[in-house]
Amino acid sequence: MPVSSLHILDFSFSNPYTLTLDPYGPFAVLYRLWFSRCGSVSEKDLSNYANKRVLITGGTSGCGLECTKAFARAGAHVIVTARNREKGEVLREKIMKETEPLHITPKFDVLELEMGSEDSITAFNARLQEYPSLDLVILNAGIYQTEFVVCENTGREQTLQVNLLSNCATALLAIQLLLRQPTQGRLLIISSEAHAWANPQQKSFTALMEMLNQSDTYPCYARYHISKLLVILWMQELARRIDPARVLIASATPGFCRSGLFRSFNGKTIANYLERLLCRTPDQGAWQYLTAIERMNTAVHGCFFADGRFRPSSAAATLAREEGLCDSMWDNVLKMLPECAQHVAHDLSI
Ligand SMILES: NC(=O)c1ccc[n+]([C@@H]2O[C@H](COP(=O)([O-])OP(=O)(O)OC[C@H]3O[C@@H](n4cnc5c(N)ncnc54)[C@H](OP(=O)(O)O)[C@@H]3O)[C@@H](O)[C@H]2O)c1
Repeated sequence: MPVSSLHILDFSFSNPYTLTLDPYGPFAVLYRLWFSRCGSVSEKDLSNYANKRVLITGGTSGCGLECTKAFARAGAHVIVTARNREKGEVLREKIMKETEPLHITPKFDVLELEMGSEDSITAFNARLQEYPSLDLVILNAGIYQTEFVVCENTGREQTLQVNLLSNCATALLAIQLLLRQPTQGRLLIISSEAHAWANPQQKSFTALMEMLNQSDTYPCYARYHISKLLVILWMQELARRIDPARVLIASATPGFCRSGLFRSFNGKTIANYLERLLCRTPDQGAWQYLTAIERMNTAVHGCFFADGRFRPSSAAATLAREEGLCDSMWDNVLKMLPECAQHVAHDLSI
Protein backbone atom coordinates (compact mmCIF):
# COMPACT_ATOMS: atom_id res chain seq x y z
CA MET A 1 0.00 0.00 0.00
CA PRO A 2 1.70 3.30 -1.02
CA VAL A 3 2.21 6.00 1.59
CA SER A 4 -0.22 8.87 1.26
CA SER A 5 -1.04 12.04 3.16
CA LEU A 6 -3.86 10.08 4.75
CA HIS A 7 -1.33 7.69 6.26
CA ILE A 8 0.58 10.60 7.76
CA LEU A 9 -2.65 12.01 9.24
CA ASP A 10 -3.63 8.56 10.45
CA PHE A 11 -0.24 8.25 12.14
CA SER A 12 -0.50 11.73 13.70
CA PHE A 13 -3.95 11.20 15.21
CA SER A 14 -3.58 7.58 16.25
CA ASN A 15 -0.19 8.06 17.86
CA PRO A 16 -0.60 8.23 21.64
CA TYR A 17 2.30 10.67 21.99
CA THR A 18 1.36 13.26 19.33
CA LEU A 19 -0.52 15.68 21.55
CA THR A 20 1.43 15.09 24.75
CA LEU A 21 4.56 16.66 26.21
CA ASP A 22 6.39 13.33 25.88
CA PRO A 23 10.06 14.13 25.08
CA TYR A 24 9.89 11.63 22.19
CA GLY A 25 6.53 12.87 20.85
CA PRO A 26 6.58 13.97 17.21
CA PHE A 27 6.50 17.70 18.08
CA ALA A 28 9.30 17.44 20.63
CA VAL A 29 11.37 15.55 18.05
CA LEU A 30 10.68 18.20 15.39
CA TYR A 31 11.64 20.93 17.85
CA ARG A 32 15.00 19.27 18.54
CA LEU A 33 15.53 18.67 14.85
CA TRP A 34 15.34 22.40 14.29
CA PHE A 35 16.99 23.73 17.40
CA SER A 36 19.59 21.25 18.67
CA ARG A 37 23.12 21.77 17.45
CA CYS A 38 24.21 19.51 14.63
CA GLY A 39 27.54 19.88 12.86
CA SER A 40 29.40 18.42 9.91
CA VAL A 41 31.62 15.32 10.02
CA SER A 42 34.50 17.50 8.78
CA GLU A 43 34.62 19.05 12.29
CA LYS A 44 35.46 15.69 13.82
CA ASP A 45 39.00 14.62 14.58
CA LEU A 46 39.12 10.93 13.67
CA SER A 47 42.92 10.70 13.71
CA ASN A 48 42.76 8.09 16.50
CA TYR A 49 41.10 5.80 13.94
CA ALA A 50 44.08 5.85 11.57
CA ASN A 51 44.92 2.21 10.78
CA LYS A 52 42.00 1.02 12.93
CA ARG A 53 39.51 -1.40 11.37
CA VAL A 54 36.02 0.06 11.01
CA LEU A 55 33.01 -1.87 9.63
CA ILE A 56 30.10 0.18 8.26
CA THR A 57 26.98 -1.43 6.78
CA GLY A 58 24.99 0.38 4.10
CA GLY A 59 27.80 2.64 2.93
CA THR A 60 26.39 3.25 -0.53
CA SER A 61 24.24 6.25 0.32
CA GLY A 62 23.08 8.72 2.96
CA CYS A 63 24.62 8.81 6.43
CA GLY A 64 26.55 5.55 5.91
CA LEU A 65 28.31 7.01 2.87
CA GLU A 66 29.27 10.18 4.80
CA CYS A 67 30.72 8.06 7.62
CA THR A 68 32.61 5.89 5.15
CA LYS A 69 34.18 8.97 3.51
CA ALA A 70 35.10 10.47 6.90
CA PHE A 71 36.87 7.32 8.14
CA ALA A 72 38.62 6.82 4.77
CA ARG A 73 39.92 10.43 4.93
CA ALA A 74 41.19 9.72 8.46
CA GLY A 75 43.27 6.78 7.22
CA ALA A 76 41.17 4.07 8.86
CA HIS A 77 40.89 0.64 7.27
CA VAL A 78 37.23 0.87 6.25
CA ILE A 79 35.27 -2.28 5.51
CA VAL A 80 31.97 -1.26 4.04
CA THR A 81 29.00 -3.21 2.73
CA ALA A 82 27.09 -2.75 -0.50
CA ARG A 83 24.11 -4.78 -1.67
CA ASN A 84 25.84 -5.98 -4.82
CA ARG A 85 29.06 -5.77 -6.81
CA GLU A 86 27.91 -2.90 -9.08
CA LYS A 87 26.96 -0.71 -6.12
CA GLY A 88 30.26 -1.64 -4.53
CA GLU A 89 32.19 -0.43 -7.59
CA VAL A 90 30.35 2.91 -7.62
CA LEU A 91 31.14 3.27 -3.93
CA ARG A 92 34.81 2.51 -4.53
CA GLU A 93 34.99 5.28 -7.15
CA LYS A 94 33.37 7.76 -4.76
CA ILE A 95 35.91 6.97 -2.04
CA MET A 96 38.84 7.19 -4.44
CA LYS A 97 37.62 10.61 -5.60
CA GLU A 98 37.24 11.72 -2.00
CA THR A 99 40.74 10.70 -0.88
CA GLU A 100 42.76 11.50 -4.05
CA PRO A 101 43.20 15.24 -3.32
CA LEU A 102 44.49 14.31 0.16
CA HIS A 103 47.15 12.02 -1.36
CA ILE A 104 45.80 9.16 0.70
CA THR A 105 45.60 5.63 -0.59
CA PRO A 106 42.57 4.47 1.34
CA LYS A 107 42.58 1.09 3.00
CA PHE A 108 39.15 0.27 1.82
CA ASP A 109 37.29 -3.01 1.23
CA VAL A 110 33.77 -3.46 -0.06
CA LEU A 111 31.94 -6.59 1.03
CA GLU A 112 28.69 -7.63 -0.57
CA LEU A 113 25.76 -7.84 1.83
CA GLU A 114 22.09 -8.07 0.91
CA MET A 115 20.31 -8.07 4.24
CA GLY A 116 17.13 -9.48 2.77
CA SER A 117 18.94 -12.79 2.29
CA GLU A 118 20.35 -15.25 4.82
CA ASP A 119 22.56 -16.74 2.10
CA SER A 120 24.11 -13.32 1.57
CA ILE A 121 24.67 -12.88 5.32
CA THR A 122 26.39 -16.28 5.45
CA ALA A 123 28.63 -15.40 2.48
CA PHE A 124 29.38 -11.99 4.05
CA ASN A 125 30.37 -13.72 7.28
CA ALA A 126 32.87 -15.93 5.46
CA ARG A 127 34.59 -12.78 4.10
CA LEU A 128 34.35 -10.92 7.40
CA GLN A 129 36.02 -13.71 9.34
CA GLU A 130 39.15 -13.23 7.22
CA TYR A 131 39.90 -10.09 9.25
CA PRO A 132 41.74 -10.70 12.51
CA SER A 133 39.62 -8.19 14.47
CA LEU A 134 37.55 -5.01 14.33
CA ASP A 135 37.79 -1.80 16.38
CA LEU A 136 34.51 -0.09 15.54
CA VAL A 137 31.26 -1.27 13.95
CA ILE A 138 28.44 0.98 12.71
CA LEU A 139 25.36 -1.01 11.72
CA ASN A 140 23.69 1.68 9.63
CA ALA A 141 21.89 -0.19 6.84
CA GLY A 142 18.13 0.12 7.06
CA ILE A 143 15.03 0.41 4.96
CA TYR A 144 11.72 2.31 5.01
CA GLN A 145 9.46 0.22 2.84
CA THR A 146 6.17 1.71 1.66
CA GLU A 147 4.70 -1.58 0.47
CA PHE A 148 4.37 -5.04 1.96
CA VAL A 149 7.31 -6.91 0.42
CA VAL A 150 8.39 -10.42 1.36
CA CYS A 151 12.07 -11.37 1.08
CA GLU A 152 12.32 -14.26 -1.33
CA ASN A 153 15.18 -15.90 0.52
CA THR A 154 13.70 -15.85 4.03
CA GLY A 155 9.95 -15.61 3.44
CA ARG A 156 9.79 -12.72 5.91
CA GLU A 157 8.52 -9.19 5.49
CA GLN A 158 11.37 -6.94 4.36
CA THR A 159 11.29 -4.19 7.03
CA LEU A 160 11.36 -6.76 9.78
CA GLN A 161 14.03 -8.82 8.06
CA VAL A 162 16.40 -5.94 7.30
CA ASN A 163 15.89 -3.51 10.20
CA LEU A 164 15.63 -6.13 12.92
CA LEU A 165 16.72 -9.68 12.13
CA SER A 166 19.61 -9.02 9.75
CA ASN A 167 20.92 -6.25 11.99
CA CYS A 168 20.86 -8.67 14.93
CA ALA A 169 22.69 -11.28 12.82
CA THR A 170 25.30 -8.76 11.66
CA ALA A 171 25.78 -7.49 15.21
CA LEU A 172 26.56 -11.01 16.44
CA LEU A 173 28.94 -11.69 13.55
CA ALA A 174 30.74 -8.42 14.17
CA ILE A 175 30.90 -8.71 17.94
CA GLN A 176 33.14 -11.75 17.88
CA LEU A 177 35.66 -9.71 15.88
CA LEU A 178 35.31 -6.76 18.26
CA LEU A 179 36.00 -9.15 21.15
CA ARG A 180 39.21 -10.35 19.49
CA GLN A 181 40.68 -6.87 19.93
CA PRO A 182 42.61 -6.40 23.20
CA THR A 183 41.37 -2.79 23.43
CA GLN A 184 37.77 -1.80 24.06
CA GLY A 185 35.65 -2.04 20.89
CA ARG A 186 32.52 -0.07 19.99
CA LEU A 187 29.30 -1.22 18.35
CA LEU A 188 26.74 1.38 17.27
CA ILE A 189 23.40 0.14 15.91
CA ILE A 190 21.38 2.74 14.03
CA SER A 191 17.74 2.92 14.96
CA SER A 192 15.41 5.91 14.81
CA GLU A 193 13.58 8.36 17.05
CA ALA A 194 10.51 6.90 15.34
CA HIS A 195 10.96 3.81 17.56
CA ALA A 196 9.27 5.87 20.27
CA TRP A 197 6.12 6.18 18.15
CA ALA A 198 5.70 2.42 17.86
CA ASN A 199 2.42 1.13 19.11
CA PRO A 200 2.60 -2.69 18.92
CA GLN A 201 -0.79 -4.29 19.51
CA GLN A 202 0.62 -7.66 20.61
CA LYS A 203 2.32 -8.12 23.97
CA SER A 204 4.11 -11.36 23.16
CA PHE A 205 7.12 -11.23 20.88
CA THR A 206 6.15 -14.29 18.83
CA ALA A 207 2.58 -13.05 18.32
CA LEU A 208 3.93 -9.67 17.21
CA MET A 209 6.32 -11.27 14.72
CA GLU A 210 3.48 -13.32 13.28
CA MET A 211 1.27 -10.26 12.85
CA LEU A 212 4.07 -8.21 11.30
CA ASN A 213 4.55 -10.95 8.75
CA GLN A 214 0.98 -10.59 7.49
CA SER A 215 0.12 -8.00 4.88
CA ASP A 216 -3.05 -6.49 6.33
CA THR A 217 -2.14 -6.00 9.98
CA TYR A 218 0.01 -2.86 10.25
CA PRO A 219 0.52 0.08 7.89
CA CYS A 220 4.06 0.41 6.52
CA TYR A 221 5.04 3.34 8.77
CA ALA A 222 3.98 1.34 11.85
CA ARG A 223 6.07 -1.61 10.68
CA TYR A 224 9.09 0.72 10.41
CA HIS A 225 8.49 2.18 13.90
CA ILE A 226 8.11 -1.29 15.43
CA SER A 227 11.22 -2.64 13.68
CA LYS A 228 13.23 0.27 15.10
CA LEU A 229 11.78 -0.27 18.60
CA LEU A 230 12.56 -3.99 18.50
CA VAL A 231 16.14 -3.42 17.39
CA ILE A 232 16.68 -1.08 20.35
CA LEU A 233 15.19 -3.63 22.75
CA TRP A 234 17.38 -6.35 21.25
CA MET A 235 20.46 -4.09 21.44
CA GLN A 236 19.76 -3.62 25.17
CA GLU A 237 19.55 -7.40 25.61
CA LEU A 238 22.89 -7.74 23.82
CA ALA A 239 24.42 -5.00 25.98
CA ARG A 240 23.32 -6.88 29.13
CA ARG A 241 25.23 -9.93 27.89
CA ILE A 242 28.46 -8.22 26.81
CA ASP A 243 30.98 -6.76 29.24
CA PRO A 244 31.28 -3.02 28.45
CA ALA A 245 34.95 -3.18 29.40
CA ARG A 246 35.37 -5.31 26.24
CA VAL A 247 32.81 -3.81 23.86
CA LEU A 248 30.69 -0.71 24.36
CA ILE A 249 27.27 -1.02 22.73
CA ALA A 250 24.75 1.71 21.95
CA SER A 251 22.12 2.77 19.48
CA ALA A 252 21.70 6.13 17.71
CA THR A 253 19.59 8.01 15.24
CA PRO A 254 20.77 10.49 12.62
CA GLY A 255 17.50 12.43 12.98
CA PHE A 256 15.21 13.16 10.05
CA CYS A 257 17.64 13.34 7.06
CA ARG A 258 17.36 14.02 3.33
CA SER A 259 18.83 10.68 2.30
CA GLY A 260 17.82 7.74 0.17
CA LEU A 261 15.62 6.32 2.94
CA PHE A 262 12.37 7.74 1.59
CA ARG A 263 13.05 6.80 -2.01
CA SER A 264 9.97 4.61 -2.30
CA PHE A 265 7.56 7.30 -1.09
CA ASN A 266 5.34 8.77 -3.79
CA GLY A 267 6.24 12.30 -4.91
CA LYS A 268 3.57 14.54 -3.46
CA THR A 269 3.08 13.53 0.12
CA ILE A 270 3.12 15.78 3.15
CA ALA A 271 6.25 13.86 4.15
CA ASN A 272 8.01 15.15 1.07
CA TYR A 273 7.23 18.79 1.87
CA LEU A 274 8.23 18.27 5.48
CA GLU A 275 11.43 16.64 4.30
CA ARG A 276 12.44 19.69 2.29
CA LEU A 277 11.49 22.03 5.10
CA LEU A 278 13.01 20.24 8.06
CA CYS A 279 15.58 17.65 7.17
CA ARG A 280 19.22 17.42 8.10
CA THR A 281 21.76 16.56 5.46
CA PRO A 282 23.29 13.05 5.52
CA ASP A 283 26.54 14.74 6.59
CA GLN A 284 24.75 16.12 9.66
CA GLY A 285 23.18 12.71 10.27
CA ALA A 286 26.64 11.15 10.19
CA TRP A 287 27.83 13.82 12.66
CA GLN A 288 25.27 12.41 15.09
CA TYR A 289 26.79 8.92 14.68
CA LEU A 290 30.33 10.19 15.27
CA THR A 291 29.26 12.22 18.29
CA ALA A 292 27.55 9.15 19.74
CA ILE A 293 30.70 7.08 19.19
CA GLU A 294 32.85 9.75 20.90
CA ARG A 295 30.54 9.80 23.91
CA MET A 296 30.07 6.06 24.37
CA ASN A 297 31.17 4.90 27.80
CA THR A 298 30.21 2.34 30.43
CA ALA A 299 27.50 4.58 31.91
CA VAL A 300 25.60 4.68 28.60
CA HIS A 301 26.19 1.04 27.61
CA GLY A 302 22.90 -0.07 25.97
CA CYS A 303 21.51 3.48 25.69
CA PHE A 304 19.99 5.43 22.79
CA PHE A 305 21.58 8.60 21.37
CA ALA A 306 19.56 11.31 19.63
CA ASP A 307 20.08 15.01 18.86
CA GLY A 308 23.49 15.36 20.43
CA ARG A 309 23.18 13.27 23.58
CA PHE A 310 22.32 9.93 25.14
CA ARG A 311 18.71 10.02 26.31
CA PRO A 312 16.59 8.17 28.87
CA SER A 313 14.51 5.25 27.63
CA SER A 314 11.44 6.31 25.65
CA ALA A 315 7.99 5.57 27.06
CA ALA A 316 7.42 3.10 24.20
CA ALA A 317 10.58 1.11 25.05
CA THR A 318 9.83 1.16 28.79
CA LEU A 319 6.23 0.06 28.21
CA ALA A 320 7.28 -2.73 25.85
CA ARG A 321 9.68 -4.06 28.48
CA GLU A 322 7.10 -3.76 31.28
CA GLU A 323 4.47 -5.54 29.22
CA GLY A 324 6.80 -8.48 28.60
CA LEU A 325 7.64 -7.97 24.94
CA CYS A 326 11.32 -8.69 25.68
CA ASP A 327 10.68 -11.78 27.82
CA SER A 328 11.23 -14.34 25.09
CA MET A 329 12.82 -11.99 22.58
CA TRP A 330 16.45 -13.06 22.77
CA ASP A 331 15.83 -16.78 22.22
CA ASN A 332 13.17 -16.23 19.58
CA VAL A 333 15.28 -13.80 17.58
CA LEU A 334 18.20 -16.25 17.72
CA LYS A 335 16.03 -18.98 16.20
CA MET A 336 15.27 -16.68 13.26
CA LEU A 337 18.93 -15.91 12.47
CA PRO A 338 21.23 -17.74 10.06
CA GLU A 339 23.24 -20.55 11.60
CA CYS A 340 26.50 -18.61 11.53
CA ALA A 341 24.98 -15.97 13.85
CA GLN A 342 23.44 -18.62 16.12
CA HIS A 343 26.86 -20.22 16.47
CA VAL A 344 28.38 -16.97 17.69
CA ALA A 345 25.77 -16.68 20.45
CA HIS A 346 26.41 -20.31 21.38
CA ASP A 347 30.21 -19.93 21.37
CA LEU A 348 30.04 -16.78 23.49
CA SER A 349 27.42 -18.37 25.77
CA ILE A 350 25.15 -15.38 25.46
N1 LIG B 1 16.93 9.47 6.91
C1 LIG B 1 16.25 9.61 8.03
O1 LIG B 1 15.46 10.54 8.17
C2 LIG B 1 16.46 8.66 9.16
C3 LIG B 1 15.88 8.94 10.40
C4 LIG B 1 16.07 8.05 11.44
C5 LIG B 1 16.81 6.90 11.26
N2 LIG B 1 17.34 6.64 10.04
C6 LIG B 1 18.12 5.40 9.89
O2 LIG B 1 19.43 5.74 9.47
C7 LIG B 1 20.01 4.65 8.74
C8 LIG B 1 20.65 5.19 7.46
O3 LIG B 1 19.64 5.63 6.62
P1 LIG B 1 19.83 6.80 5.56
O4 LIG B 1 18.91 7.87 6.01
O5 LIG B 1 21.25 7.13 5.35
O6 LIG B 1 19.15 6.09 4.30
P2 LIG B 1 19.77 5.54 2.92
O7 LIG B 1 20.41 6.66 2.20
O8 LIG B 1 18.64 4.85 2.27
O9 LIG B 1 20.87 4.50 3.40
C9 LIG B 1 20.51 3.22 3.83
C10 LIG B 1 21.62 2.26 3.49
O10 LIG B 1 21.16 0.94 3.83
C11 LIG B 1 21.33 0.11 2.72
N3 LIG B 1 20.33 -0.95 2.65
C12 LIG B 1 18.99 -0.82 2.52
N4 LIG B 1 18.41 -2.01 2.40
C13 LIG B 1 19.41 -2.93 2.43
C14 LIG B 1 19.45 -4.34 2.31
N5 LIG B 1 18.35 -5.05 2.11
N6 LIG B 1 20.65 -4.95 2.38
C15 LIG B 1 21.79 -4.25 2.56
N7 LIG B 1 21.82 -2.91 2.64
C16 LIG B 1 20.63 -2.26 2.59
C17 LIG B 1 21.17 1.03 1.50
O11 LIG B 1 21.71 0.41 0.35
P3 LIG B 1 21.28 0.92 -1.13
O12 LIG B 1 22.08 2.14 -1.37
O13 LIG B 1 21.65 -0.24 -1.99
O14 LIG B 1 19.81 1.16 -1.08
C18 LIG B 1 21.94 2.23 1.99
O15 LIG B 1 23.32 2.06 1.83
C19 LIG B 1 18.87 3.66 8.50
O16 LIG B 1 18.98 2.60 9.42
C20 LIG B 1 17.62 4.49 8.79
O17 LIG B 1 16.52 3.70 9.20
C21 LIG B 1 17.22 7.49 8.99
